[in-house]
Amino acid sequence: MIKKAELHVHLEGTATPLLVKQMAERNGAELDPTTFASDGEYRWSDFWEFLKCYDKAAAAIRSRDDYKTVTYDYLKRAAAEGTIYVETFSSPDHAASVGISYEDHLMGIADGIDAAREEFGIECRIIVTCVRHLGPEKALEVAKKVVSTPHPYVVGFGMGGDEAQFHPKDFAPAFDLIHEAGLPTTNHAGEFGGPQSIRDTLTHLPVTRIGHGVRSIEDPDLVRELAERKIVLEVCPGSNVSTGLYPSVKDHPIDALKKAGCIVTISSDDPPFFHTSIGQEYDRTQEAFGYSDDEMRTITRNSIQAAFCEDSLKEKLLAKI
Ligand code: ADE
Ligand code: ZN
Repeated sequence: MIKKAELHVHLEGTATPLLVKQMAERNGAELDPTTFASDGEYRWSDFWEFLKCYDKAAAAIRSRDDYKTVTYDYLKRAAAEGTIYVETFSSPDHAASVGISYEDHLMGIADGIDAAREEFGIECRIIVTCVRHLGPEKALEVAKKVVSTPHPYVVGFGMGGDEAQFHPKDFAPAFDLIHEAGLPTTNHAGEFGGPQSIRDTLTHLPVTRIGHGVRSIEDPDLVRELAERKIVLEVCPGSNVSTGLYPSVKDHPIDALKKAGCIVTISSDDPPFFHTSIGQEYDRTQEAFGYSDDEMRTITRNSIQAAFCEDSLKEKLLAKI
């Protein structure tokens, strides 16, 4: 099995409908009945509805132990597909919305990482994210927490949410604070925003990676710049197909970006929402573009080299490929 590494997966977005229902029951929490369709899967029809559905499902995660469960459950599934490293986004704003402290959410995830490493040998690190549509003040609060509460597993900072809200420069105070503290950053751009959204991110935020970034393909000069500056693209083909950006993986620009010299990686984003997994993302991409196993291993190597974790861990992981 080809070894895999994933840089772009939202922890709350890894929880399966079954796990969300189990946690809600355990916590006596009432879930919004519109969260699920009649077949038991998550119910949403476009990107903005997806974001709402995501919030409703994430509200079932109510304790440090729940965070451990979600993390362990995901890493177990990823390891079974040959994944050796995961960098997961965590969202303290989602935790806070159900009364969980930054510290508890972090310690729960760390507990899950430790348990999964022990049982499955998989490694994982955390990128704490802010939520773009919650605005720059909230983002700055999250960034301050990251800096004032360092944790060895927190290796970076990022931003997800609705790319149409606010402007990247509004988030410069949060990102600059993190950058000055020595942590690397990434931002979702060029998913539902066009190439300008990526340009604005590169101009105003100290990022070394871009979440998605696939709509750069609409601007050849930008593609050239991404390649020249070695900005790493966290590409999630199945997510983009599922949310309607491209009709199929064959129509996805990952291959054109790769051929243009961009550093591409493959991730699953929010796997149960998009009916996918990291293993399926690798398989579908390999099949759609006829990549050799060596090309797939290069993609894994790209991910590990672009990971935000410590160099000693990268060396150990690279030796496993
Ligand atoms: N939050 C969770 N998944 C996301 C995505 N694909 N884009 C933006 N924000 C997200
Ligand atoms: Zn994402």
